[in-house]
Amino acid sequence: MRKCAERGTGWIYLRITCCLMPLPSLEWVDQAYQVFEDMKQKYCEPDAYTYTILIRMSGRAGKTSKFLSFFDEMVSKGCALNLIAYNTLIEALGKNKMVDKLIFVLSKMIESDCQPNQFTYSITLDILATEGQLHRLNEVLDICDRYMNKSIYSYLVKSLSKSGHVSEAHNVFCQMWNSYETGDMDAFVSMLEVLCNSGKTLEAIDLLHMMPAKGVATDVSMYNMVFSALGKLKQVSFITSLFDKMKANGIAPDLFTYNIVISSYGRVGLVGKASGLFEEMNASSCKPDVITYNSLINCLGKNRDLDEAHMLFKEMQEKGYDPDVFTYSILIECFGKSNKVDMACSLFADMIAEGCIPNVVTYNILLDCLERHGKTAEAHKHYETMKQQGLTPDSITYSILERLETRSQRTVRIRKPARATSWVVSPLR
Ligand SMILES: *[C@@H]1O[C@H](CO)[C@@H](O)[C@H](O)[C@H]1NC(C)=O
Ligand SMILES: *[C@@H]1O[C@H](CO)[C@@H](O)[C@H](O)[C@H]1NC(C)=O
Repeated sequence: MRKCAERGTGWIYLRITCCLMPLPSLEWVDQAYQVFEDMKQKYCEPDAYTYTILIRMSGRAGKTSKFLSFFDEMVSKGCALNLIAYNTLIEALGKNKMVDKLIFVLSKMIESDCQPNQFTYSITLDILATEGQLHRLNEVLDICDRYMNKSIYSYLVKSLSKSGHVSEAHNVFCQMWNSYETGDMDAFVSMLEVLCNSGKTLEAIDLLHMMPAKGVATDVSMYNMVFSALGKLKQVSFITSLFDKMKANGIAPDLFTYNIVISSYGRVGLVGKASGLFEEMNASSCKPDVITYNSLINCLGKNRDLDEAHMLFKEMQEKGYDPDVFTYSILIECFGKSNKVDMACSLFADMIAEGCIPNVVTYNILLDCLERHGKTAEAHKHYETMKQQGLTPDSITYSILERLETRSQRTVRIRKPARATSWVVSPLR
């Protein structure tokens, strides 16, 4: 047995230098290995901490064979590996894309009763995802079974959801579901969100209905998430039944719910249902906002109820709501398409007078209307104003300008009836 009087300063020197070098140069790494060997010769056995540092450094430098041999040496010398040592090794294996070895070390870790922490799981999940081996997640969960708990399940569901791995998230979520009597709110919300984002609306609705059975109370924001997804996919019949279920469950719709449901009805031309809901809302404690009015005006105006739309516009102003550029654009478009050019132009003038600034869409709508009715000079005048306001014409503007050009070249010819174009302003913002 050698005396270890000098070892303290030597080891500390090595450790400090390793720690100060987050990305050591290869040359330096080789020097460090040399120092390490020299010190082993001169002094005595390195401890688990020194090995851990050398493993981390080798992992960062991509020296895979080196850190594996440090690991073997460390184990054979009977150094007790702690959580940090295991995580260091797992991190080094992850950085060097060594999936099999990583899973092996993880199983050794569990065998030696060392409980992984969130960092362990996050590195493991990362490497499986980046190496396209998420199908091995079940294997990992089996290995870690003894230490799996609700918060780790929840963490995995959240991470997988966030990275868009829907089916893997769902798989882990189901295992979690089967393992615990009560659910975890965060995991539920993440799962719901990812199902909605990936258009799996039926699954999202099922989940929403099953949540209370696992002790997780549903609220209006969870329902709204599903309503948005259904609205985007125009799944109106699901919206209707979910809306009724929600109210039956004692959850009151809020402004967002009404807005999304009204605009969804509007998009598919269900004018009666949209108006009915607006009246229901008007009678409730939840008051409409400009978006609600815009949705309904849009719905009415585009479904041959222009007078109703105009009346609603006036009601909106009387009640003190300021119409925005969207409101004006919708109505100008509706007037234009119904050949009420004067109404369209006077509304545009009102808009300016009210201090509401038109955007390119508004100008496109106005120019299109003027061009179709042969009001070439006015169209050119508005185009000049548009440019003066610093607005950049887009492809729609240019196609209208082109039509203006050809129109001025064929003054004598009999005008063909203008083909109705599709709607420009969409009801959903
Ligand atoms: C769940 O497991 C993780 C990682 O193993 C651990 O850090 C955490 O303390 C555990 N939580 C509970 C409540 O046991
Ligand atoms: C909204 O409710 C008020 C009474 O609170 C009523 O006078 C008005 O006509 C209602 N508007 C609509 C569009 O139903």
